[in-house]
Amino acid sequence: MSTTTPESVWQRLAAHRAELGERHLNELFEADSTRAGRMQVEACGLFLDYSKNRVTDETLRLLLDLAKTSGLAQRRTAMFEGERINTTEQRAVLHTALRRPASEVVLLDGRDVVPDVVAVRERVARFAETVRCGDWCGYDGRPITDIVNIGIGGSDLGPLMVCEALKPFAHPRLRLHFVSNVDGVQIDDVLRSADPGTTLFIVASKTFTTQETLTNAHTARAWLIGRAGDEAAIARHFVAVSTNAEAVSRFGIDTANMFGFWDWVGGRYSLWGAIGLPIVLQIGTQGFDALLAGAHAMDVHFREAPFERNLPVLMALLGIWNVDFLDARSQVIAPYHQRLHRLPAFLQQLDMESNGKSVRLDGTPVAHPTSPVIWGETGINGQHAYFQMLHQGTGFAPVDFIGVLARPDGAEHHHRLAFANMVAQAEALMRGKSADAVAAEMRAAGLAEERVRALAPHRAFPGNRPSNTLLLERLDPRTLGALLALYEHRTFVQGVVWGVNSFDQWGVELGKQLAARVLDDLAADQDRHPHDASTAALIARYRRRPV
Ligand code: F6P
Repeated sequence: MSTTTPESVWQRLAAHRAELGERHLNELFEADSTRAGRMQVEACGLFLDYSKNRVTDETLRLLLDLAKTSGLAQRRTAMFEGERINTTEQRAVLHTALRRPASEVVLLDGRDVVPDVVAVRERVARFAETVRCGDWCGYDGRPITDIVNIGIGGSDLGPLMVCEALKPFAHPRLRLHFVSNVDGVQIDDVLRSADPGTTLFIVASKTFTTQETLTNAHTARAWLIGRAGDEAAIARHFVAVSTNAEAVSRFGIDTANMFGFWDWVGGRYSLWGAIGLPIVLQIGTQGFDALLAGAHAMDVHFREAPFERNLPVLMALLGIWNVDFLDARSQVIAPYHQRLHRLPAFLQQLDMESNGKSVRLDGTPVAHPTSPVIWGETGINGQHAYFQMLHQGTGFAPVDFIGVLARPDGAEHHHRLAFANMVAQAEALMRGKSADAVAAEMRAAGLAEERVRALAPHRAFPGNRPSNTLLLERLDPRTLGALLALYEHRTFVQGVVWGVNSFDQWGVELGKQLAARVLDDLAADQDRHPHDASTAALIARYRRRPV
């Protein structure tokens, strides 16, 4: 009887890694002319070249075994079918239901959730269309021109990133603003130039208890009432997106102007429902439907494609290989398209809040490192900042290069230049350049031998640094939807293999609790709560701050 367990596959992978040693990617390519052609997958408007990873066919076979023995297929079914896989909060995980076609059925405790999803989607659409066509007017009868989304984390990053990415599809009259920071600067900047009669605030908070969001929302509310001179103005200028109707009405927003969602949608997975209201306002219902359709297409691909041709599964397993066998501690996201500039921040929350865990579902410690640091910036800017480290630093960080094939209107030479840089960086990271090759070049250029010897180590590149290249056919709502769902499922697959609960976030609680005590003490003359010496000194220093 076969005794293959995840542990035995981890061991085989470790032995395989030791055998592979520092085998260079150049050698792997030289040994196999079919490598690039075989190590690519295309689905849902996305093309992935993963051949520049330090893997062989045997590595991939073992990684696929790891996915199978970890129960990925069963966990995937459990998620899509509404089982309470978020066990610490006893919740189902059904963000995929938010993008299911209306004709489908998703049962949660025997009840179909799709009609509720569709009902909210239709309310959001109706409201957004009234604002877009100019029928929804402010207290003095003028149509809305500015929309301010007040939210943080999942109630900010998703809509913000998508609205940035899809600016070319934006409604010509509406300007979108996002306020997340509680420091007062961001809300102040927005309010300073806002016209109270034409500004609509969306207070977006799943719990409607998040202090940053409520503080900013109260500031906006006071500003509006101060300008309008009448509390009744709130009804025309404030809407809420939340699961907490009671707190919304306590804030003073009529629940008729509230768009709901459910506890089975995690904050970082929520842009597909009412949290996507700013997106619907910006690109309209048709555009939003296309975003959902793209994500749904990726859901279907994730459920149906065999693991070896499955984009999220492959990307997740390559990530695990890099983290757990090659000791990568971080993962770079490098989009070569300006409109994707908030993608790294969005993926940071998606991945690190999901898998930044060190205990498994059963509460025992994880057996392997999880959750690499996700970081990045548009690739072309990164080239003039952090890429030096990627090429010649002591550790290595695998890179997801993300490019767009269709060019933005009228900018062929710009687009080609950006694309060339992306491809060249992946090539350089992989191939490197030996000290001998560097020395030969310098000699040919006539440098003195002494100088050649001194400079060669500085100018050599080790190469063998892995990357994925992910190409979007075009940057439109549908393809963007597929891209985001791809990363969601990549995170899910990694969580399954590591055995963690990717859907809770207890790690953010302690800081919130302590902030309440510190806040209390900052306002007092002396501490009412016990603190360590460093914290007490910082509080004391704050009390002596310049005014
Ligand atoms: O950072 C913790 C967190 O709970 C995130 O998971 C969430 O996206 C964010 O705060 C905002 O929460 P809410 O939407 O409830 O205001």
